[in-house]
Amino acid sequence: MKGIVLAGGTATRLYPLTIVTNKHLLPIYDRPMIYYPIETLARMGIREVMVIVGGKSVGDVVELLGDGSAFGIDLTYRYQPGALGIAHAIGLARGFVGDDAFCCVLGDNILRGPALADVASAFEAGPFGAGTLLYRVSDPERFGVAELGPDGHVVGFEEKPEHPKSDLIPIGVYFLRPDAFDVIDHLLPSGRGELEITDVLNHYIPERGLYSPVYDGHWTDAGTVPSLLRAAELAAADDAAGQLPPPVSRPVR
Ligand code: G1P
Repeated sequence: MKGIVLAGGTATRLYPLTIVTNKHLLPIYDRPMIYYPIETLARMGIREVMVIVGGKSVGDVVELLGDGSAFGIDLTYRYQPGALGIAHAIGLARGFVGDDAFCCVLGDNILRGPALADVASAFEAGPFGAGTLLYRVSDPERFGVAELGPDGHVVGFEEKPEHPKSDLIPIGVYFLRPDAFDVIDHLLPSGRGELEITDVLNHYIPERGLYSPVYDGHWTDAGTVPSLLRAAELAAADDAAGQLPPPVSRPVR
C-alpha cells in the first residue's frame, strides 16, 4: 500500500500563526505537526509516501522531511497550486499510486492510540471501494458528518452541514484504490470551491462499498486555535504515559 500526506491549503483559520509559516510546520508539543501523519503512515507499515505540499514556505516542508529516511520511509513530493480541495490533492498522486491501494492522511490530523496496520490490511484484502475512520465529536458541523441508516451503516456524508445528522465524522484518514482517480475526475467543486473527499466517499456507499470502522483511540485535527491546543494536549498525555516515542531528528546541515 502507498501513502499520501496532504499538506496544502491556506490555513486562514490559524492566522496570524500561518501568515508566513506553513501550518504543517507549527509545533504540536515536541515536534512539527506534519510528523504525526507521517508517523501514522509509517506505523501502518507503509514505506512509500508522497507529500502533497501547498501554501506558504513549501521549501521548508521539504527541507524538514527530506527523503524520509529518518522516518524509515521513502518520500516524494508534489505541489498543489491553491486550496482546491482534498480530492483534488489526492488526484495529483495518480502517477505515484499506480496500481496500488493507498492511504491518505490529512497533514493536520493527529491520531494517538492503536496503529492502523490491521485497518489497512482489512481494507486492502476486503471488497470495499473506499474506507475512512469515524470518530464522535461534540462539534460535527465543523467537519464531514455521517448520516446513519436504521441498521447503523453510513448512508451518506455531508460536508460542514448546518444541521448535522449525527455526531460521527469521517476523520482525515482515507483508504482508496486507483479507481478513485476516475471518481475524482468527474467531481464538481462544492460551494466552497473545492473538490470534496466526502463526495468521493459518497460515491462508494450505494454498493455498500465503504469500510468505516469507528476509531478506537484519540483524534483531533489541528486546523483551528482550540484544536491546535488540543492536539498538543493529546501528545503531552501520551508522553506522560510513555506512549510518545522521541521525535526523529537530524543534524543541521
Ligand atoms: C476535512 C474534510 C472533512 C473531515 C475533516 C477531518 O475538513 O473535508 O470531511 O471531517 O477534514 O479533519 P477540512 O479540514 O477541509 O475543513
